[in-house]
Amino acid sequence: MEYKVCNSKDLPNNSMKVISIQGSKILMCRSNNRLFALDNSCPHRGASLSKGEIKETKIICYMHDFEYDLISGKLLHIPSKWNDQNPNWTKSGNLLLFPISEKNGEIYIRL
Ligand code: FES
Repeated sequence: MEYKVCNSKDLPNNSMKVISIQGSKILMCRSNNRLFALDNSCPHRGASLSKGEIKETKIICYMHDFEYDLISGKLLHIPSKWNDQNPNWTKSGNLLLFPISEKNGEIYIRL
């Protein structure tokens, strides 16, 4: 189902915004004029990804600095400071991505 989430001007370039749809917290962002939408919960340990940093097509979680690809959702990098951790602790799934589009000055997300 497609939801109108905001007007285009409410999500300027290089910004992010968290919205609630059907009880899910969705993080949407525009980076280098490209839109992304994902579950706001980090697939590693559930930290809020909206506190992280977006670098072009990547997002870095503020909690343990894991880096994920916003296009594929895949985990790209775990900082070496965690090399001594138990491998179970460093295990992470992928980002949960949602289709996002823009039409006539409005932004839509499909869940
Ligand atoms: S909770 Fe996000 S990197 Fe650990």
